[in-house]
Amino acid sequence: MGKPRNPITGSDFAGIVESVGNEVSQFKPGDRVMGLNTDQLSSHCEYIVIGEDEAVVKIPDELSFSVAAASLEGAHYAYNFIKRIPDLPGKKVLVNGATGAIGSAGLQFLKYHGALVTAVCRAEHEDIVRDMGVDAVIAYDRVDFTQTDSKFDVVFDAVGKSTFGKCRRVLTQQGLYISSELGPKVQNPLLALITPLGKGQQVKFPVPTDTKRSLNYIMDRLKDGSFKPLIDREYAFDDIREAYRYVLQGEKVGNVILNFQA
Ligand SMILES: NC(=O)c1ccc[n+]([C@@H]2O[C@H](COP(=O)([O-])OP(=O)(O)OC[C@H]3O[C@@H](n4cnc5c(N)ncnc54)[C@H](OP(=O)(O)O)[C@@H]3O)[C@@H](O)[C@H]2O)c1
Repeated sequence: MGKPRNPITGSDFAGIVESVGNEVSQFKPGDRVMGLNTDQLSSHCEYIVIGEDEAVVKIPDELSFSVAAASLEGAHYAYNFIKRIPDLPGKKVLVNGATGAIGSAGLQFLKYHGALVTAVCRAEHEDIVRDMGVDAVIAYDRVDFTQTDSKFDVVFDAVGKSTFGKCRRVLTQQGLYISSELGPKVQNPLLALITPLGKGQQVKFPVPTDTKRSLNYIMDRLKDGSFKPLIDREYAFDDIREAYRYVLQGEKVGNVILNFQA
């Protein structure tokens, strides 16, 4: 294998503004901020440079840097997925992968908008998702949700472990399937092009855009208390390899934080 093109990983950050350029008007040294840039930001280092018009917002004093850092990419994806669901109040939505960074943010945003949320997670994590206010829980290590008699207006597979084909029987006639993953043989983006041509169930494969808008939405939810990011654990920056090994197991509960001050 060759060397990575970008040797410094990381897209999310929370920290303090050290200095600003002459033309910067929205931020000043000492401001507490959080931000996100999935295009080679390289945030896994002590200092980064980011433009004031990019996805960076001030954070209130009462918000810890850990909470801020856990409210970024997963929540940005979640917001972009759920905003594609029309008429959310009262809709029955199943969230698969409910304890992931995307799923846990998504189900809280869905509850905020008045959806009826069924969360799918491992039995031992039921209490975690119930504490986030969901209406029902299905433990996937006990019951296969695709084989239940329930019907959902939306299946939001936040972890990409199902397929549209498997979920069709639990979707209503006009039901919507949304996945955070491409699916086998890149089927989800293809199905998102084909299924709207018919009159029945549809696949949507939203591509997250407008990160600044997401951050403003997330900040509003943090401030009104409707969103509390799920934090699994924190690692000191020197333990970044352990942190990556843990995340790559695909079993983290919410978000993993790298802390430069630990
Ligand atoms: N997080 C991001 O910012 C981001 C950005 C872009 C793309 N993605 C992609 O989106 C997907 C989700 O990412 P994530 O960070 O939210 O979560 P993740 O860490 O990849 O997923 C963790 C969750 O998946 C659940 N899970 C594992 N196997 C499952 C199964 N068979 N059925 C249902 N749930 C299962 C686990 O829940 P239990 O512990 O309850 O089993 C665990 O909490 C990943 O494929 C990731 O590559 C993530």
